[in-house]
Amino acid sequence: MLRKLSLIAFTILLGSCGGGDAYDPAHDYFTFANTNQFITRHIALDLEVDFAAEKLRGSAVLYLKVIDDSAETITLDTRDLDIKSVAVVAEDGSLQAATFDFGDTDAGMGTPLHIAAPDDIDTETELVIRIAYETSPDASALMWLPAELTAGGKQPMVFSQSQAIHARSWIPLQDTPSIRVTYEASISTPVELLAVMSANNDPLTPRRGEFHFEMPQPIPSYLIALAVGNLYFAPIGEVTGVYTEPELLDASVYEFGQVQEMMDVAVANFGPYQWGRYDLLVLPPSFPYGGMENPRLSFLTPSLLAGDRSLVSVVAHELAHSWSGNLVTNATWRDGWLNEGMTSYLESRLMEIIYDVDRADEAKVLDYEELLLNFESVPVERQSLAPRLDSGDADDVQGTIHYHKGRLFLEHLEIEFGRDRMDQFLLAYFDEFAFKTITSEVFLDYLDDELLSVIPDVVSRDDAEGWLYQPGLPTDAPIPFSKTLSEATAHAQSWASGEIELQDIPTANWSPQAMRHFINSLPADLTRDQLVALDAHLGLSATSNAEIGRTWFIQVATRRFEPAYEALELHLNRFGRTRLVAIVYEALASNGHDLELGEAMFERARHAYHPITITAIERVFARAEADANGEV
Ligand code: BES
Ligand code: ZN
Repeated sequence: MLRKLSLIAFTILLGSCGGGDAYDPAHDYFTFANTNQFITRHIALDLEVDFAAEKLRGSAVLYLKVIDDSAETITLDTRDLDIKSVAVVAEDGSLQAATFDFGDTDAGMGTPLHIAAPDDIDTETELVIRIAYETSPDASALMWLPAELTAGGKQPMVFSQSQAIHARSWIPLQDTPSIRVTYEASISTPVELLAVMSANNDPLTPRRGEFHFEMPQPIPSYLIALAVGNLYFAPIGEVTGVYTEPELLDASVYEFGQVQEMMDVAVANFGPYQWGRYDLLVLPPSFPYGGMENPRLSFLTPSLLAGDRSLVSVVAHELAHSWSGNLVTNATWRDGWLNEGMTSYLESRLMEIIYDVDRADEAKVLDYEELLLNFESVPVERQSLAPRLDSGDADDVQGTIHYHKGRLFLEHLEIEFGRDRMDQFLLAYFDEFAFKTITSEVFLDYLDDELLSVIPDVVSRDDAEGWLYQPGLPTDAPIPFSKTLSEATAHAQSWASGEIELQDIPTANWSPQAMRHFINSLPADLTRDQLVALDAHLGLSATSNAEIGRTWFIQVATRRFEPAYEALELHLNRFGRTRLVAIVYEALASNGHDLELGEAMFERARHAYHPITITAIERVFARAEADANGEV
């Protein structure tokens, strides 16, 4: 249930692209590629996976459409790539060496690779370029896991994470979501291992050390993905299944057993699934995200394996990206809400049907609270859905604002226009923009044409622009409400004030979400004895649910509840997903006493963390140190 209440309103009016400079909201500031002159249509990869050297080695052939035949240079994105040679491939397949050089390296964006274009290019003829290269062991997209960091402990593994701008660290390409490519790949691996990609994985492929993939649907570069390891497959439904190490296969099949049902519901509501199969890949704990929507094969953290299917909203989310994100893609990272906000909305819709409205409402309330917290730390100019974005870290644009504020915007539209209208709009939207990339402004115009102007005086264009370009939340934003979570809050308060005993708290019927909300609602002044009793009664420090653990250990660190520090450190070592650990370090670093202890725990755990997670935690400590030293 969503209640309309007037709210904690924002008042500050800020244009998204204020100032008189030449900021172009449709331009992707995170690529060096000259996509106004050349556009890649297809990529053919031929790569050998060398675990000993921690390198991919081979070639990428780029098939380019020439937009501007006077262009002299093709500029590609790279990061830490060792480029061996570049050649133009003639129609008969012969190679003509091409000259190339590098531009200045930018810490965030990598190094532009400039290739001299042949004199005789024309807009009618495809230009084919072959680049021989190898990756660096430090490639930001690739995590090379030694055997001991896998479930089986016997074979190494490597997996990629290309979003947002890491594809350039394993493939020289035009690394921008504003263009789409099809791809094919030949991957050679040690014979005992299996390679999978965001492409046509065949569950029956024999292990011969040679794998060939085709991805016939055009996708943005951030969705190109590869994993190689001791992986096995188990089917779940007609077009769904799961890949993981044998040690995790049964648990994964159980946990994600509803994925086919999710697929059927998604198709019934959002339109045809355009990608063939939909499989899941459950990775080791070092995977830095909850999930990544690589097409046909979502990559997942093993921290979802709670044993009770309580964390499967992440699967609903990644599946929903098959429509919002993968089919209709944000043109630049500034438009990320079109991917993440729309997906969060679809995720709730799926959860309502697969579970029930209460379950979806509980998640919305927790997300809403996260959003309010985000507004406290995200600068106002980054609080709009479509902020000005021409610098910074493309992986971390503005906390979770794209997700939760984006979902609220779509819920607002649903409430105002009714679910039927909203569903018609969504179906038409996914159809209209299938396999296209769009900006927030294209969305706005389409929304205006298809909904706002069709049924006038319900939501004005000004209102919609407020959501896109202004910070905070509009006064008429929906406020999520959940009866069960409100009851959990009430119980937290009455227990803390001594009105009821621990055994009177009706936890037996609670979802993990209710437990999290209960923990978040505990008053700040609980005594140590109360915390000891609570932890013993509810088994919080020993929880096997990663999200309950996250919520509890934030409190443990904030309140300096030292009896649980050992368990807290276990949590930090057990999980590598950034969301689960970075905030716990933050709570330690900012409680006024445990900055050094937190840093020591990080030193002990970091060998198992992904570079993206390490960067996020380093940022936490840098900020805490600056705060501790009185710097602003
Ligand atoms: N596409 C994102 C992950 C991502 C975002 C990678 C930005 C790199 C840059 C993925 O779909 C996602 O949103 N994952 C969430 C899951 C959640 C919101 C259900 C995560 O990992 O927490
Ligand atoms: Zn997402």
